[in-house]
Amino acid sequence: MSTNFETINYEVKEGVGYLTINREKALNALNSQVLTELKTLLTDLIEKKSYETKGIILTGAGEKAFIAGADIKEMADMTVDQAKEFGELGQSVTTLFEKLHIPVIACVNGFALGGGCEIAMSCDFIYATNSAVFGQPEVKLGLIPGFGGTQRLSRYIGRNRAREIVYTGRNMKAEEAHRVGLAVWVFESKEDMIKGALNAFSMMSKVSPLAIETAKKVMNDGNDLTVEQGLQCELDQFANIFGSEDMKEGTKAFMEKRAPNFTGK
Ligand code: CAA
Repeated sequence: MSTNFETINYEVKEGVGYLTINREKALNALNSQVLTELKTLLTDLIEKKSYETKGIILTGAGEKAFIAGADIKEMADMTVDQAKEFGELGQSVTTLFEKLHIPVIACVNGFALGGGCEIAMSCDFIYATNSAVFGQPEVKLGLIPGFGGTQRLSRYIGRNRAREIVYTGRNMKAEEAHRVGLAVWVFESKEDMIKGALNAFSMMSKVSPLAIETAKKVMNDGNDLTVEQGLQCELDQFANIFGSEDMKEGTKAFMEKRAPNFTGK
């Protein structure tokens, strides 16, 4: 796996991956380099497909921002064709987060604006601190969200609320983001938030990684389907998983009144 990154940092400690956007001076804004490095890392992780890392905590460097959006300075002079390429790159990163076989928790401290909110929404769920600020302020710059905000925000908070946020460009503080279902939990500090995420991964380390991966796939795929099609997708995967060693082990361990030993097979 490539570890030659300049604008992101990725390290695995005790089975948890810590992925940090590392442009603190620019409030972790997403330029082409950050997006390309994220794409490389996520592609490598997907190709390698190991369950040794249970999941990933995504944060922004420093105390002020998770990610303050796509890099406005880089975008300012882009042509239509260059913008398309840039948008495709950003969207490919959000899609890779969704396709990753292990869960990612977006740990949002400070600003998660524009592309930052969009990256957070492509993770499996969002934790936030009291100081978190979410928003899609693109209209204030004369543009629209380009890394999935027009699509994923509605799926998170409903179309009416999403329209109001996108059309006004106003910010949502942590309390509102929690109330409308964008942030799952709000913590007092970044330290508490990371502890909360580690606690979630500790619980996940006791269950089947294959079951988590399959649930993630069905829940993500189902977003774009009718209930009927989604149920079919669920049924197929529900049946498939009966062919796995993890399913045999989990049910056997239950009957033998012991802890299961899952391998992800
Ligand atoms: N792009 C590039 N640089 C950014 C940035 C961004 N999105 N956000 C912040 N920065 C830079 C600032 O330019 C500044 O750099 P300099 O010191 O070199 O001038 C540095 O980060 C610190 O920022 P501020 O001085 O502005 O800090 P502040 O505390 O006064 O304000 C803020 C913080 C409210 C987040 C403000 O920085 C801001 O409004 N940033 C832009 C937010 C935004 O509009 N995001 C959406 C971008 S468009 C997008 O994301 C499109 C898409 O969907 C793909």
